[in-house]
Amino acid sequence: MPSLILGPLLRYVGETDAVVWVETDGPCTVEVLGVRERTFHVAGHHYALVRAQGLEPGRAYAYEVHLDGERAWPQPGSPYPPSRFRTFPQGRSLRICFGSCRATAPARGVDALGALVHRMRRQDPDEWPDLLLLLGDQVYADDVSAATRRYLAARRDLRREPGPRVWGYEEYTRLYRESWGEPYLRWLLSTVSTAMIFDDHDVNDDWNLSASWVADRRAEAWWEEHITGALASYWVYQHLGNLSPDEHEREELFAAVQAAQDAGPLLHDFAREADRRPTSYRWSYCRDLGATRLVTVDSRAGRVLDEGRRSMLDEEEWAWLEREATGGYDHLLVATSLPWLIAPAVHHLEAWSEAVCAGAWGERAARTVERLRQAIDLEHWAAFQRSFVRLGELQRAVGAGERGEPPASVVTLSGDVHHAYLAEVTLPEGGGAPVRSSVWQAVCSPVHNPLPAPEQWAMRSARWRPVTALARALARTAGVPPPAVAWREVGGGPWFDNQLGTLSADGRRIDLVLERAAGSDAVPRLEPLLRKRLA
Ligand SMILES: [Fe+2]
Repeated sequence: MPSLILGPLLRYVGETDAVVWVETDGPCTVEVLGVRERTFHVAGHHYALVRAQGLEPGRAYAYEVHLDGERAWPQPGSPYPPSRFRTFPQGRSLRICFGSCRATAPARGVDALGALVHRMRRQDPDEWPDLLLLLGDQVYADDVSAATRRYLAARRDLRREPGPRVWGYEEYTRLYRESWGEPYLRWLLSTVSTAMIFDDHDVNDDWNLSASWVADRRAEAWWEEHITGALASYWVYQHLGNLSPDEHEREELFAAVQAAQDAGPLLHDFAREADRRPTSYRWSYCRDLGATRLVTVDSRAGRVLDEGRRSMLDEEEWAWLEREATGGYDHLLVATSLPWLIAPAVHHLEAWSEAVCAGAWGERAARTVERLRQAIDLEHWAAFQRSFVRLGELQRAVGAGERGEPPASVVTLSGDVHHAYLAEVTLPEGGGAPVRSSVWQAVCSPVHNPLPAPEQWAMRSARWRPVTALARALARTAGVPPPAVAWREVGGGPWFDNQLGTLSADGRRIDLVLERAAGSDAVPRLEPLLRKRLA
């Protein structure tokens, strides 16, 4: 009899449809809410994406999973409530939890998602979040637990490259099983819809930081197997479920994968092409959550890295973003793993590094600063100045009503930096109509992987005024104009705990709560750090 290896993961949920993903230990028929799907096969692993359509809007559904007619979920003796979800619109306020960076290596403190589960078990299901937005480093391929290290050591000599990092599709399946296999997390992911986007550690530290970084990796013998395994497994485990059933219908790759005897080679070729030619695939996606629009932007795989024309997104993807990020909603959420706005001193330093690496101070300085930017990760939107400006301009146009009725709020949501803060944003009007939306950047990271103390100190000192003034002066010497966007951190912070953000949208009102994980793994709790009405 077949059994579940991982999942069910409740992924896309719309007004009349829902998507459930599973991994099973063999080929079988998977049934959810009366819909049956055959598994597809990738390199010895079996998965199904069950797409329930024709559901009623605004209704709660409890579900089970049957494999070849036998109940496989909930598991016998499960201490958790039944897995259930509600289709949109919610008929009450919309709740979105968000965060990034969840390591499985031990000694990382209390897991904020464990604390969320602990609270949900005592809540009425109507109080549960509607969406969990995971903003990167869902898995750490290059920072593995002792158990994964032992598994890797049994497969190959870890003294040789690529060393103790997860390498190739098979090892990734093991990493996902470990990261998402704990009973509390399996239950959470079965009952709260998730939207995900990768960051560097899902693939490799500093992934696509610069053209020079990519050239160095491609020169290494282990890299190609690594990047193809990372992207193929990301597509299967994370990306597929980001999409709606309609998008699955249009996704030719999915049809080919379902039809293949073994889609391993097909996905390997796809991943190689996606890496070599980023325009060949779009990882960014859009979801409507009732009257709130979520646009999740890939700020890793689609970068243009040629010096002098660096961009977070290629032109095709910019056009897509400008099409999807519009007014006409109560709230527009722009999710990008890398913060758009960071501490001003870091912003100026990153802008300076980009200009110097492009030759503003000559070739020798370019080589030196290239090493610096790789060493201290100068690679956020600020290190892609033209993209930084363009993302601000897009938000200004939305807020000024040039792209439909202005939303009450435009909120950029990010992770990556292993601390949390909320920034209030003032966009330049530049002679156009005034911006009527409230504009914010909310950053929440990590879920389970706090920053070491020296780096916490560095992040705090990046907020000191003299440091900011110095960095600003440095950027000016490299010819970088000061940013037209102004932002100010509010409500205290930065915070360095394991933490989780929650946005609650109720009509045109939207509130943010930041909470940190406290207590113990056995009895975890969430403690408030910040409550702020954003609109
Ligand atoms: Fe991280």
